[in-house]
This record gives sequence, structure tokens and C-alpha cells, in this order.
Amino acid sequence: MIRTVPTQPFSDQKPGTSGLRKKVKVFQQPNYAENFIQSVFDVVEGKEGSTLVIGGDGRYLNRTVIQTAIRMAAAAGFARVVVGQGGILSTPAASHLIRRRGALGGLVLSASHNPGGPDEDFGIKYNVANGGPAPEKVTEAIHARTLSITEWHAASGPDVDLDTLGEVTVEGMTVEIVDPVADYAALMESLFDFDAIRAAGLTIAFDAMSAVTGPYATEILERRLGFAPGTVRNGVPLEDFGGHHPDPNLVHARDLYDLMMSADAPDFGAASDGDGDRNLIIGRGRFVTPSDSLAMLAANAHLAPGYAAGLNGIARSMPTSAAADRVAAALGIPAFETPTGWKFFGNLLDAGMATICGEESAGTGSDHVREKDGLWAVLLWLNMLAATGKSVDEIARDHWARFGRNYYARHDYEGVDSAAADALMAALRADLPVLPGRRYGPLTVAAADDFAYRDPTDDSVSANQGVRVLFDGGSRVVFRLSGTGTSGATLRVYLERYEPADGYLDTDTGTMLADIVAAAEEIAGIARHTGRTRPDVVT
Ligand code: G1P
Ligand code: ZN
Repeated sequence: MIRTVPTQPFSDQKPGTSGLRKKVKVFQQPNYAENFIQSVFDVVEGKEGSTLVIGGDGRYLNRTVIQTAIRMAAAAGFARVVVGQGGILSTPAASHLIRRRGALGGLVLSASHNPGGPDEDFGIKYNVANGGPAPEKVTEAIHARTLSITEWHAASGPDVDLDTLGEVTVEGMTVEIVDPVADYAALMESLFDFDAIRAAGLTIAFDAMSAVTGPYATEILERRLGFAPGTVRNGVPLEDFGGHHPDPNLVHARDLYDLMMSADAPDFGAASDGDGDRNLIIGRGRFVTPSDSLAMLAANAHLAPGYAAGLNGIARSMPTSAAADRVAAALGIPAFETPTGWKFFGNLLDAGMATICGEESAGTGSDHVREKDGLWAVLLWLNMLAATGKSVDEIARDHWARFGRNYYARHDYEGVDSAAADALMAALRADLPVLPGRRYGPLTVAAADDFAYRDPTDDSVSANQGVRVLFDGGSRVVFRLSGTGTSGATLRVYLERYEPADGYLDTDTGTMLADIVAAAEEIAGIARHTGRTRPDVVT
């Protein structure tokens, strides 16, 4: 039986950088998740006879919302839903499954690197048939629908057993519970030289941060590649990620960092985030920034069988350092600069214009799926190490000696009063015309703008994507507000200094960026607006 339940709109269901993210308590309000899911289904066309993929990162509320989504998908007319066993699907695995099954789309339940548990975060993201996050015109239509919704529809009946592989029927719709790892692991095996990695005799440590990549990493790294049992740390997904932030950066993956800087360091260390799309790469004694990792992966990708034919182009988000642009120039291929968020890469990948994409926020990926992919980056690094016989440190130094080095850091001011953050950005935007020519210590502003992007595949324009202040000599600072936070505002300040190949290539990042940090404070008045004198997180 299909139930129709009257409801009223919620005013706060506008999807952000990566879907709708809110506190669990917000999602637990009656009708809240149902309204959003119904709005997705109302907007999406072609449901009858189609397949929908459903899965999430295993965080608190995952199973509950999956049951809701299954019942509502049956009422919406889908012929089949494909669900990861236990409700588990990493974001890249969900993307692959959507593509492989020719699905109409998928619901990916995650708040990525945000903490989980009854008092923490949850999220719902809709991905479209190419496997990528819904483009802005779809998310805008979903948002509009959330503001006018009057009822939602769901099949009644008992919960589906999410833990048993196989098929059951709900109101005529087939529910197929699948192994969440198998298809993804096969895809990785098709892209990378597993024999060479096995033969290289490397030692590695992978921190799954008690999040979704545990089962994937255990299968791929320990079972298929034969790394020692225990290589995967924190490999069991927990609903609250063990109380940690599943964010693979130097703050939240501190244990891994300390190990990699110690005398006991293995050759290679890596971590992934809550839903498996981010990565942290640390060699023995050498941290690689995500911006550098993108550039180094692009420069060496041809060493892996999946990329032996070369790359069509490289895309990076605007705040990501320009290191990848230099690789693209050397390879004679185009470089694209998009707004923050993976959804902007989808069109370039679909059009075959870019092969590898990345963001400074620890996301890298390629045209194998339409999401960023943490384990993919780990495996490409391992393939590079195996093929070259070099260490991570040697690869990094060789890279800088050839291309120069983009020293880089991001300063985050979290939980800032929203009005104060908005005022800071408004003041910055108002100052844009007068900044060029101004001097801050040794730095002179060459140009300043509010980044706008015209998508070359469909000419759609996304404006107001962050304030850029470019200095003479290739250094810059970027200011933008986070679109994924769930409380107050997060101000992100991105700092970058280019040092040419004959410059200081192996110096402390903080020292190299000090002038730019001082200029950023002077330009934006961070302390004056927010009352903060130092960032909460430096990555
Ligand atoms: C952040 C990152 C961005 C990434 C997004 C989703 O978004 O900065 O690069 O795509 O998370 O993982 P933000 O909070 O800055 O809007
Ligand atoms: Zn993520």
C-alpha cells in the first residue's frame, strides 16, 4: 500500500557545496528527510522503469534514512533500487555503481568529513545518471520544490533486511542488496598495475578513520595487493567514527602524520574521509599537499595502465594551487579552473575535456567515476612508487626541481558568526576596485576579483565563487565562505606563493607564506570582523 502524508515546507533545505547537510537532530524532525527526498523525486524525470542506487557512509541515521528512501522510491515508481549491503557505499563506489548499472541516479547519504553521531552531522546528496553530483540547475529545482511541497508518498510495510545479499520486492519494486566493494575493487584492478605494486615490496599504513573506506581498503590493499594484515587501521566503519572527525588532514589524522615522521615510518601513509572521496598522502618524512599531489599524479599518471594513453586535460578548483597548471602546460594539454565543489568537474569529464581533476581540500579523481576518489589516489601513488622505484620524497623533490614549487596553506576560521562573516566578504567585495596597485609589505596587488566561471560545455555561469587577490610574482590569497558547514559560518583563506625551480624549494611553508598571511589580515580585517586572531585549522 502507498501512503500519502501531508506535510509543510521547511525553509532551510537548500543544498550546499555537496548536497543537504544538517545536524542529525534537524534531520530527525518529522517529515524533514521525507520532504527532501520527495522533492528530489518530484524534480527528477524518468523514474518509471528506472534504477536508483542508494547507500551511505554508515554514519548515525544512515540505515533509518535508507529504509525511508526505499519506501519512497517504491511510491515514486522506480523499478529497482540497488543498495549497498549494510547500507554501505563509499561516494566513489556509489558513483561507479550508478554508471555501471545505467541507473537514473543515486542517493548518497553522507556528511563527508564532518563528524557523525546523534549530536553531529548527516547529509543527503542526489547524484545524476553520469554518476556525479546533481548540477546546479537540478539542485536549484530541488530547492524550489522543498519550498512548495505539500505531501510525500511512501510504501508501507516492514523494513528491508539491508544485511542479506539478494533481492526482495517492495510494492512491485525490486530491492537488490549488493556487495558494496566488489565492483569498485574490480574497477581499481583495471586501472592500476596490481602486479607491479605487489612486487615492489613497499610498506604502507592506511588510516580509514573508522569510516566507510575500511572494507574497501581491507579488500584492495590487504587481500588483493597482499599488504600485511593491520596495514588498514581503524578499518571498521562506526556510526560516530569513534568520536573523531573523519577528516584526513594533519589535525585529524595526527597519529598517521606522527607515524610517518617517526623512525618507524613505512614507505607510504594515507588516509581517507567519512565517505571515502578524500585522501591524505604522506611519504616517509614527507607530507604532500593535496594541490601538489594533484600535480604529481597528473605528471606521472601515464605510468599506470589506465592512463597510459595520456591525459586530455587537467581541472582544478579555483582555490587549488596552480601547480597542476604547470604540468598541463608541460604536457601541452588544457588546464581548467572551476568553482569549488566536484559538481563542476562532471561536465568536463563527460565531454572528454579533462581526465584528472582535483581540489586543495584533499580531493583528487579522474574520469573513471564522477566523484573524487580517495583510494584511487592512494593506488595511483602506489603505482607511481612501484613504476619509478622512487620514494614519495624523491618524487616530490624531482617535481619541484622541474616545475618550481607552489607553497600552499589553507586557514579555516570555524563557527564564525554568520553576519560577521557576511560583512567581511561584503567589505572585501566592495574593496575590489581599489586593491590593484596597493602594497602590503613586499607584496603588490596585481589584480583582484570575485571569481566567476563560465562552463565551456554549456556556457552556464556561476558567479560570486570567492574573492581572489593576486600579487605580482604569482602569489595570491583567496577568501570564501564554506558551503558545507552546519553551524555558523566557516571562513576559508587560501594562501599560495610560487617559488621558481631555481628558488627555495625545500623551506618551511609557514615561513614562506608569512608575508601573504599578514597581507590577508590587512586586506580582509579578519580579526576586526570575526574577533579571531588565529585560524582554527591550518591545512
Ligand atoms: C568543501 C571543500 C570543497 C569540497 C567540498 C565537498 O567545501 O572546500 O573543495 O568539494 O567540501 O567535499 P566548502 O566547505 O569549502 O564549501
Ligand atoms: Zn568526503
